[in-house]
Amino acid sequence: MLPLYVFTFPHGIIRSMIVKAPLMEFTSHNADQTRRLGMKLGGALQRGDVICLQGDLGAGKTTLVQGMAQGWGSADAVSSPTFILVNVYRRADGGQLFHMDAYRLDSTSEAEELDLDSMLDQGALIIEWPERMQAIVPAERLWVQFEHLGAEERGMKFQSHGTRSESLLELLRGGI
Ligand SMILES: Nc1ncnc2c1ncn2[C@@H]1O[C@H](COP(=O)(O)OP(=O)(O)OP(=O)(O)O)[C@@H](O)[C@H]1O
Ligand SMILES: [Mg+2]
Repeated sequence: MLPLYVFTFPHGIIRSMIVKAPLMEFTSHNADQTRRLGMKLGGALQRGDVICLQGDLGAGKTTLVQGMAQGWGSADAVSSPTFILVNVYRRADGGQLFHMDAYRLDSTSEAEELDLDSMLDQGALIIEWPERMQAIVPAERLWVQFEHLGAEERGMKFQSHGTRSESLLELLRGGI
């Protein structure tokens, strides 16, 4: 059986965090908290990383991405790229961060036209609604499942697939 740890952070940023490698559950109590978690994750992103954000409309996916882009070092505004499919955020050193929203993808063949490999050669890739393009999502990824728990309460389940995303999880286990 895998070890189960429960952390309570004294500063109250994270009220509860349950870890069961390679899975981590996190409860956010407001949008700022979600952004702060995103900042921590975004600060560690490297070229080739894939982060999948699955959850209902309004679950907080883009809110997490706002924090990620900020933590990664972009000053660009983050919004749901629902109509243009992919947003690219830039950093002063030329780095790029790709933010994709597959909500409006109609078919797998449409998804296959997306050149994920060339994006991953240039930067990290964050995907909202990844289940709509599951056939082409790289096997090595950090998968985040969002759940509405209350008006401002959101559950996030982080699941690592591969050693790189395991080290991202390890970082998040250190708290925000
Ligand atoms: N704990 C929380 N974490 C994230 N967002 C929260 C939280 N509490 C309230 N919110 C609010 O919920 C909304 C989340 O919207 P957001 O655009 O991030 O969702 P989304 O999952 O990207 O939805 P969509 O599938 O439509 O793109 C925002 O208005 C945000 O302020
Ligand atoms: Mg969104």
